Amino acid sequence: MRRKLVAGNWKMNGDRASLAELDLVERAAATHAGVDVAIAVPFTLIERAADRAPDLSIGAQDVHENDRGAHTGCVSAAQVAEAGARFVIVGHSERRGDQGETSHDAWAKAAAAHRAGLSVILCCGETEAERDAGRAERVVQAQVEKSLPDDADGSWLTLAYEPRWAIGTGRTPTLDEIAAIHSIARAKMRHMIGEKADGVRILYGGSVTGDNAAAIMAVPDVDGALVGGASLTAAKFVPIIEAAGA
Ligand code: PGA
Repeated sequence: MRRKLVAGNWKMNGDRASLAELDLVERAAATHAGVDVAIAVPFTLIERAADRAPDLSIGAQDVHENDRGAHTGCVSAAQVAEAGARFVIVGHSERRGDQGETSHDAWAKAAAAHRAGLSVILCCGETEAERDAGRAERVVQAQVEKSLPDDADGSWLTLAYEPRWAIGTGRTPTLDEIAAIHSIARAKMRHMIGEKADGVRILYGGSVTGDNAAAIMAVPDVDGALVGGASLTAAKFVPIIEAAGA
């Protein structure tokens, strides 16, 4: 039985004052003990967020694939772990789109995070053109194949399916479309890592709100949500935690 996970991603939003939002989120997480709650904040807020909300899982939004060295402007997995992060998001579509990251990069970053003792949310998802061309399933299969580490299991790795065209747009796939991709991703993981795949959570991400969260999380093989815009305030994020715990 996989526990539901609701993970927020603040992206390049938030400042010290925003950390006050975590108080209500932490309280909601305590009320819904059957749900895991996590929030990836900007690097600069990790330490303060982890101090302020010790019962929440605070994470980073990216790490470098190397453990240390001459990589100006980058941050290592050990560094975010020391700051208090417990997990990191890798392979997010905004990293793929803005920074040209590949599934191989996501694989290397997941491995680096695991070496540093972090959990990983590994993202995949097709573009609108790929979906329109009927290639969504094949694209996600290929991304999973290239980015899932051989030693992945549910104790440290979570997969997130985030169709790029649904991120920040208010548009979502149908529940059947979500079910189809999650089932295919699970099958691909089974092919790669065997029965361990059954312990790996698969989150859906892309315009999740308090209004659609319950229906999406009731879809087979949807084990929670990765939430961008609606994670920025407790008023919008807490209803999603409540939907996961209902
Ligand atoms: P959104 O972002 O909830 O704002 O669509 C999701 C994500 O990028 O993780």
